[in-house]
Amino acid sequence: SFYREINSQRSLGIEIEKLLGVKKVFVVESGIEHSETVKNLGAQAASIFETIISEGDLIGVTGGETIYCVSESITSKVDRLDVTVIPARGSVGSQARFQANTIASRIANKLNAKLQLLPIPETVSKQAMEIFLSDSEMREAYEMLKSLDVLLFGIGRADVMLARRGINEEKSSEVLNCGAVSEAFGNYFNLKGERVYSQESVGISLDKFLSIPKIIGVAGGVEKAQAIISISTLRPDMVLVIDESAAHEIIKEV
Ligand code: G3H
Repeated sequence: SFYREINSQRSLGIEIEKLLGVKKVFVVESGIEHSETVKNLGAQAASIFETIISEGDLIGVTGGETIYCVSESITSKVDRLDVTVIPARGSVGSQARFQANTIASRIANKLNAKLQLLPIPETVSKQAMEIFLSDSEMREAYEMLKSLDVLLFGIGRADVMLARRGINEEKSSEVLNCGAVSEAFGNYFNLKGERVYSQESVGISLDKFLSIPKIIGVAGGVEKAQAIISISTLRPDMVLVIDESAAHEIIKEV
């Protein structure tokens, strides 16, 4: 039955690859609790992540519970002094352990890799940004985001990310009324992957997001199906890691 399970997850993966046009889709078992699901996603994504990094890579990582679970599952078999880990965006939300900075530092520790922090909130005023960038070390960190080789990112729902950023209700409903279902680096997209709203944010730009060579997207749960569909249209060349419940919901939606 173990093999039957693996087989059914593989065939689900193939089905989603065809439906979304995404290069490689891995499907993991869904848990009864969301915490179980993200653990399974983390284990799968961590092993993929460990195999795709190569010498000299500059690796960007996002925050969130999902990527936190990936960081938990990373095992360090070899020292990777030759790679650098950097948060792909500033701080958002109130949970320290789910911050991109925290997760980048955990991953760098586990791999014994170099770490570059981005000690700045994700949403800042223009003046604060100018001051930040006037510091040469901080400027260098910011510039590094433009040359990422790898991106490990959690796919987020538009409504959840609006709330996490503390956007007021009026603005939030305006964005959601435009059809926003997903979010990536301050950009909000509809189901077709069209950008319907963007917000000044400290992190990689949309152009960069579209051109990072190696990219792994991770998301699970029925509630993330639309966000996964939306982001898949932007990066069909990504490696996508989802769970069975998200896969079944995607099949219903597409
Ligand atoms: O950056 C966060 C992602 O958009 C999703 O967050 O893993 O907590 O659901 P999550």
